[in-house]
Amino acid sequence: MKHLVLVLAFAVGCTILQNVQAKQFTECELARLLHRTYGFDRSKTNNFVCLAAAESSLNTSKTHKNRNGSTDYGLFQINNMYWCTTPGYVSRSDDCRTACSEFLKNDISKAVACAKKVLARHGYTAWEGWKAKCRSGVKDLSSCM
Ligand SMILES: *[C@@H]1O[C@H](CO)[C@@H](O)[C@H](O)[C@H]1NC(C)=O
Ligand SMILES: *[C@@H]1O[C@H](CO)[C@@H](O)[C@H](O)[C@H]1NC(C)=O
Repeated sequence: MKHLVLVLAFAVGCTILQNVQAKQFTECELARLLHRTYGFDRSKTNNFVCLAAAESSLNTSKTHKNRNGSTDYGLFQINNMYWCTTPGYVSRSDDCRTACSEFLKNDISKAVACAKKVLARHGYTAWEGWKAKCRSGVKDLSSCM
C-alpha cells in the first residue's frame, strides 16, 4: 500500500513537472503569443516562429550539446557559453543573467527576453536554423496573430 502511494505520488509529480517545464507549441500558438503578449511586430513574429521551428521544433524542453562542449537551450536554442549559466559548466559570460534552465520552461518570458538580446547584438544570423530555413523567406502567420 505504501508502495502504491509512492508510485502514484511520483507519477503525479512527473506530470506536474512536465506541465510546468515543457511545452510543445504549434506555429499559430507561438505566433499569437509573441505578437499579443510580447509585442513582436508581424515580421519579427514570423521570423521567430520560423527560427524556433528550425531550432527546437517548437519544443521548450529541447536541449542540444554542441561539439565544443557548450549546450543550447529551449525554443530559441540559446547557448550557455555566453548567455546563461548551467551547473558544472564554466560560461565565458552570462549576458542574460539567468540559469539556462529558465529557457526550458513553459513560461517563455525569460527565453523571449534573452532572444531579444541575442537579436539586438547579432541579428537573425546568430541562429544556424534561421540561416538554413528562414533566410530565404518565412511563412506569413498574420492570420494567427
Ligand atoms: C520535447 O523535447 C523533450 C526533450 O528532448 C522530449 O522528451 C519530448 O518528448 C519532446 N516533446 C515532443 C512533443 O516532441
Ligand atoms: C560553440 O558552439 C556554439 C554552437 O555551434 C557556437 O554558438 C559558439 O559560438 C561556439 N563557441 C566557440 C568559442 O566557438
